Amino acid sequence: MALWLVRAMDSSQPIGVFDSGVGGLTVVRALIERLPGESILYFGDTARVPYGVKSVATVTSYAVQMAQFLLDRRVKLLIIACNTIAAVAAQAIAALSDTPVLDVIAAGASAAVRATRGGRIGVIGTLTTINSGAYEQALRREREDLFVSSQACPLLVPLVEEGWLTHEVTRQVAAEYLAPVLAQGIDTLILGCTHYPLLQPLIGCVAGPGVALVDSAETVARQALRLLADRGLGCAGGKPRYEFYVTDVPLRFRAIGEQFLGRPFDHVQVVPW
Ligand code: DGL
Repeated sequence: MALWLVRAMDSSQPIGVFDSGVGGLTVVRALIERLPGESILYFGDTARVPYGVKSVATVTSYAVQMAQFLLDRRVKLLIIACNTIAAVAAQAIAALSDTPVLDVIAAGASAAVRATRGGRIGVIGTLTTINSGAYEQALRREREDLFVSSQACPLLVPLVEEGWLTHEVTRQVAAEYLAPVLAQGIDTLILGCTHYPLLQPLIGCVAGPGVALVDSAETVARQALRLLADRGLGCAGGKPRYEFYVTDVPLRFRAIGEQFLGRPFDHVQVVPW
């Protein structure tokens, strides 16, 4: 590329965050708390969610399309706020540009390695995330001698979207899924789906006080803070702008979005793909 076409990053550019739907708003919520001066562009593919049961090829092509949308709007950092996308398409997204990319799997794995006392880690997520083995690989890259027990929990995403965050049915479903993982004597559990931070109190009760829960939304926000500071790209002052792009406005969308974001969910624009 000719030199005159290369535009330098500056700190006022927004952070781009994307997910298969509204789940990534838990990452936006953590970013707003930790980096209150940063502007954020969020993309949620609400017309094509869920990704957690789709093929690798389909998830990759949808994810690349979203990432390119955000790159075209000159984001200074891309955050893959979806474990399913991070599991199967992180390399394809990193190859799109020189813009730094963070993702919830790398963040969750390194937080779990720091949190574990006995080296016994459980991972829960969607079918695609768990089948990919991406968490095991990320964990073993950091520390080879770990014991890892993984469990897909496909019913938890619809229960969260139903708002049944403390419901007895959800507790029973979580207990059923977690039983084989807990039986392995884990001391740390990675919440490997961006919907699960909303279930943290319930999962904490099921897992018991001896199991540390790792919320990758919180961890990726801390990593973003560090990365932007290291590159001189952090933006602390000024009034941040938040823009939300989605591919559809489904039923109960605003109420569900507000639950994930923890604040009014407005300025939403529809991108009709
Ligand atoms: N947000 C997705 C994740 O973190 C779960 C929802 C989906 O299946 O698309 O894996």
